[in-house]
Amino acid sequence: MNDVPAPSKRLTRSSVRLLLGGACALAITVTSMVVATTAQADLSGPPGTTLKAAAERSGRYFGAAMGADRLNDSGFLNIASREFDMMTAVNEMKPDATEPNPGQFDFSRGDAIYNWATQRGMRFRGHTLAWHAQQPRFWGSLSGSALRQAMISHINGVMAHYKGKLYAWDVVNEAYAENGSRRSSNLQSTGNDWIEVAFRTARAADPSVKLCYNDYNIENWTYAKTQGVYNMIKDFKARGVPVDCVGLQTHFTGGSSLPGNFQQTLSSFAALGVDVALTEADVTNASTTQYAGLTQACMNVPRCVGITTWGIRDSDSWRGNENPLLFDRNSNPKPAYTSVLNALNAASTTVPGTTTPPPTTPPTSAPPTTPPTTPPTTPPTSEPPTTPPPTGQPGGCTATYRTVSSWNGGFQAEIIVTNGSAAISGWTVQLTMASGQTIQNVWNGTNTGNSGAVSIRNASYNGALGPNASTTLGFLANGSSSTAPGNISCATA
Ligand code: G3I
Repeated sequence: MNDVPAPSKRLTRSSVRLLLGGACALAITVTSMVVATTAQADLSGPPGTTLKAAAERSGRYFGAAMGADRLNDSGFLNIASREFDMMTAVNEMKPDATEPNPGQFDFSRGDAIYNWATQRGMRFRGHTLAWHAQQPRFWGSLSGSALRQAMISHINGVMAHYKGKLYAWDVVNEAYAENGSRRSSNLQSTGNDWIEVAFRTARAADPSVKLCYNDYNIENWTYAKTQGVYNMIKDFKARGVPVDCVGLQTHFTGGSSLPGNFQQTLSSFAALGVDVALTEADVTNASTTQYAGLTQACMNVPRCVGITTWGIRDSDSWRGNENPLLFDRNSNPKPAYTSVLNALNAASTTVPGTTTPPPTTPPTSAPPTTPPTTPPTTPPTSEPPTTPPPTGQPGGCTATYRTVSSWNGGFQAEIIVTNGSAAISGWTVQLTMASGQTIQNVWNGTNTGNSGAVSIRNASYNGALGPNASTTLGFLANGSSSTAPGNISCATA
């Protein structure tokens, strides 16, 4: 179904209870394991009478977002447990909530929502790890490599807590401007590669969870912002940057509405080899035609895996005065609910990998081996084999290594390249990784090799250094940091 193995397995109710019992006995903070089911598609079955049942017919999910303040709202909880099989926290897993102070993580409110949802068989989308908004206050006083490092540490810290427990993470949220270029932000100012560093960090932190890019106003295929995001995903897939899914927020509210080419947008992203999902749907006045249309578009694209509404009742919405959701303030389903339900039940495509294969006669010969679909988790080596070795001009530049932080099984390193007395247009650092150390991703440079003898060449934007100027690159590596990489040298290009 996907480029990464789905974290969840189909479990019976009794095995779910057993797992929950075991988890409680261990008294861990996140009390549930991944207990939710991955729907097995069956379009021949009876129509679903709830949103989740109707979505599951085609192997999809129907999700909602909830804040921790809804955990005491029985009206909300009743609908949530009856109708939805995927949950997202509205604010409680955002960077300001999960890391209020450097290295001090707070998962209490996120865990409360996670536990409530997964104990009822729902899966969970994590939202979000890196965003220009709702950042920890201390990020505001950081910039450059310090902010880059804070982002990496944040991703590692949060993903370690939820490792193996989530369906997907919105790794990066809303990084594009309306004109299709990168949104200017403190994160963008750390270097254009901040998004791919976030994704590579995320993959190394939890290889089992889908890694999504999430944004709004990317529903219209001809819109500049849609094209900007599309080109980034295309580039990432071409270069092996680990991205599994694109979340289209689908806020048809405040002036924007369902574009006629929405399905083309979904299928175009899917054709790049990623899942697509509608992650924050709401529609001004809950137009039945727009809700039916957005649902049909998803149902027509096999890799459109599910729809999430941003809240459940109009009273839960961030734009409640527009009454944009499927349930009214008295918890009653609105006409838009019926239009969505009908469109889910009318699905004619299923999510790849969710259909139980028909019984087959035993093969008489060995089945053909299929190539693995999992993308490489390490960046491809980018230097052609014919690249001449660095010349190592004496006095050109020097490289200083330090381990920034380490954890069980990995570490983050920084190398400062300092130029000599004459301006240069490029540099290459060489080093020898110690036994068992493997570089996972590099920023502010491009590596050739990731274990043993490694060289790291300047990125396009930091090769030119004036006399005595310096620049910093970094990398994440698997393995122990107890022995530092050796033979570190620098050569000008
Ligand atoms: O918790 C405080 C409360 O103590 C204080 O009295 C009150 C005063 O305004 O603010 C409360 O915090 C608010 C928080 O929501 C919790 O309700 C913040 O001001 C408010 O800015 C915050 O808004 C959230 C918004 O993201 C912030 O960007 C919305 O709830 C949340 O629905 C919204 O979600 C975003 C997605 O993450 C990304 N896509 C767009 C979507 C809608 O804006």
